[in-house]
Amino acid sequence: MDEYLFLKLIHILSSTLLFGTGLGTAFHGWMANRTGSLAARRVVNRNVVLADWLFTTPAVIVQPVTGVWLAQIAGFPLSSGWLVAAMLLYVLVGACWVPVVFIQVEMRRIADRTPDGEALPPRYFRLSRWWFGLGWPAFTGVLIIYWLMVAKPEIAF
Ligand code: HEM
Repeated sequence: MDEYLFLKLIHILSSTLLFGTGLGTAFHGWMANRTGSLAARRVVNRNVVLADWLFTTPAVIVQPVTGVWLAQIAGFPLSSGWLVAAMLLYVLVGACWVPVVFIQVEMRRIADRTPDGEALPPRYFRLSRWWFGLGWPAFTGVLIIYWLMVAKPEIAF
């Protein structure tokens, strides 16, 4: 396998890790929060934060690095419409994801510090709504990037 195909394999594997972990942890977190069980929330919040560090963070870095590298090898100018659109969307996705990381850490902290049998404070539910709300533009952005990567449409800026 030549360098280009190897890089593309890493790029695609990393994209599945990014999208799959995001969707998986979002589903898991949302379902745990729906149970109303403090113990379930504690365990899942901890795992969601861990999964983000272990899988999503490396993928977030690998994605643009391999992407720009691929573009250079293949001779796609970084000013091509589809690449500019992808990079702008990637920044938007990142702008949604970074606060989500902090929100998750704070939700974990609140759930860990709430004594058994006590209700979670309203702040927990406010954060949970932000966490859920920011996920939508992030996922939509990633889906559009997938399309841009595959279709490489002519886009004039
Ligand atoms: C952020 C900066 C990114 C840049 C500069 C970039 C660049 C590229 C380039 C140059 C290719 C090679 C296309 C080819 O060989 O035909 C590619 C392929 C691909 N990229 Fe990206 N990419 C980026 C982000 C992403 C993201 C965020 C995803 C999805 C989460 C993604 C998913 C894919 C997929 C699935 C392919 C394979 C498409 C194909 O072979 O037709 N990329 N990317």
